[in-house]
Order: sequence, then C-alpha cells, then structure tokens
Amino acid sequence: MRHLIVPENLTAAEVEAIFAISRDLQEKFVAGRRDALLPARVLALVFEKPSLRTRVSFEAAMTHLGGASMFLGEDSGFASSRESITDFGRVLGGYVDVIVCRSRSHDTIERLAEVAGVPVINGLSDLAHPCQALADLYTLRQEVGRLHGLTLAFVGDGNNVARSLAVLCGLLGIRFVLAAPRGYHFDTTFRRHVAAILPDAEIDETDDPAAAVADAAAVYTDVWASMGQEAERAARQKVFAAYQVDEALMARCPDAVFMHCLPARRGEEVTDAVIDGPQSIVIPQAANRLHLQKGLLAWLLGHAG
Ligand code: CP
Ligand code: NVA
Repeated sequence: MRHLIVPENLTAAEVEAIFAISRDLQEKFVAGRRDALLPARVLALVFEKPSLRTRVSFEAAMTHLGGASMFLGEDSGFASSRESITDFGRVLGGYVDVIVCRSRSHDTIERLAEVAGVPVINGLSDLAHPCQALADLYTLRQEVGRLHGLTLAFVGDGNNVARSLAVLCGLLGIRFVLAAPRGYHFDTTFRRHVAAILPDAEIDETDDPAAAVADAAAVYTDVWASMGQEAERAARQKVFAAYQVDEALMARCPDAVFMHCLPARRGEEVTDAVIDGPQSIVIPQAANRLHLQKGLLAWLLGHAG
C-alpha cells in the first residue's frame, strides 16, 4: 500500500515515472483523448480547509480517467467529535479506492493513512503540500526543458509549500534557496530530517531576497499567512514587507519564471505587475495540477497505460 503524505515518500525514479505518465496523459488530453485508465474507481476528497485547485483538479482528473469522485466537507464529521478518525477511515476505505485529504493537522492525514486500507494522498496539511510541489517541478521542466542543476528561489514564508518544494528539489538535483525574515526559516527538525534523507540536497537559507534570486531559474512565492494563520496576517504583513516579489526583484533575474501555488494575496507577497507580467507562469502552473494528479492517480493505483 503506497501513500503520498510527504514528497519524500517517493524516490527520484518514481517521481520521473509519475512525470512520464502525466506527460503522456497531458499530450493525449491536448489531442482530445481522455483514456479511461481507472474505470469505476472512486476517489473521496476529505477536506477540512477551503480549496479550488486541489479539489477541482482531482475531481476532473477522476472523471477524465473514467472513475468517480466525491467531496466530503465538514458535514461528513471528519476529525470532529462525531466519530474517531479510525472509525471514519476504516469505513471510508471500504467504499472508495483512494482518498485525498486536506487537513488542519498533518497527524490527522497520517492517522487516516494508517487505518484506511487504501492509498491516501495529502491534499495539503500544515506541514506539506506534495501534489503542489510535484506539479510545480513538472511545470518547471516544461518551461525550462530540464531540472537538474537549476536554482529555485522561494521568497517568503518557510511554510508547507516551501518545505515540499525544498524536498522535491533535493530529490531531483535542484538547488533550493529560501529567502525569509528571521523566525520564518525552516525549523531545525526539518533541516535535520532533510539532511538525513537527502545528504546531497542543496538547500540554502538567507534573509536577502536579492541574493536568493541572483541565479534563479524560478522565483516562487506563497501567501505570508497560510490557512489557519489568519489571526497573524496583520503582524506578518509587517514582518514580510521587504519580501514582496515585485518588478525590481524580478529584474534581477530577467530569465527566471515567476511561480505561485495560488491563491495569491495580490499586493502582499506579489504585485499585480509580476503575477500578470511576462515572467509569470502561474496559470499553466495551476493547470498542470490536473495533468500531474492524473499521472499520480494512475501510478498510485497501478493502472498506468
Ligand atoms: N494551490 C492550491 O492547493 O490551491 P487550493 O487551495 O485552491 O486547492
Ligand atoms: N501555504 C498556503 C498554501 C495554499 C495552497 C496555505 O497553506 O494556506
């Protein structure tokens, strides 16, 4: 039983296999073909937080692959006092073939994976967003033509998205640089974990955005206050003010692309001029969530064509 809870659940070869299936399915989709690789398979999406991209791209992916999906929001009683996660997961796993879970707590997704008896995919937790990172590096390869040896500069909070990107970059031979204010870098536990599992990973941290983007093939940012941190938003606006990705910063790396997982807080972590500008690839980046997740589902369920 394979799960995708964090990107390090995959080897580099497995990531490449998922990319290859995704690419094949994307080319067929562009040519008007939607191969039913997963007929009558059922995906449950169990979400404790809002979502546009993750929810809709997974639901569309299952439809394209000939399967079905169902969205279970708060009224399902997940992670509430209605019933235990153990009972919820064991029952749900009897109905469906695969589960995507977006949770306030990473531990909840791990617990679900332990009991469900079907593959569980992390659709975002406080710690990780592996589907996002996979689609991002799939996109970067499409844009640049290669991945190994590139530098990805993440300017902003060392959050779930940054952590998953850092690990996946380490896995695929990309240098990852985080530019963040003091107090918002990666924590020691995460640094030690990455050093232990990926000793060759090049993961640098700085508080200087200009230095971070100097050799970057991609400049990436995300919201300063993630879902669940809304109460800190005003304070974080002050702390992160010097980390806005604006035209002056992008002018330091004119050949770099601009990436953002979305949703964006325009005028905070990124200006309109950058996100709508010539270096931005945020819309194809979001579109690729669909293609990558089709490849992931086909790979995880062992039905790649
Ligand atoms: N990027 C991303 O995961 O978007 P949603 O929160 O809309 O799913
Ligand atoms: N870091 C953001 C990502 C949203 C896709 C959050 O967790 O809210």
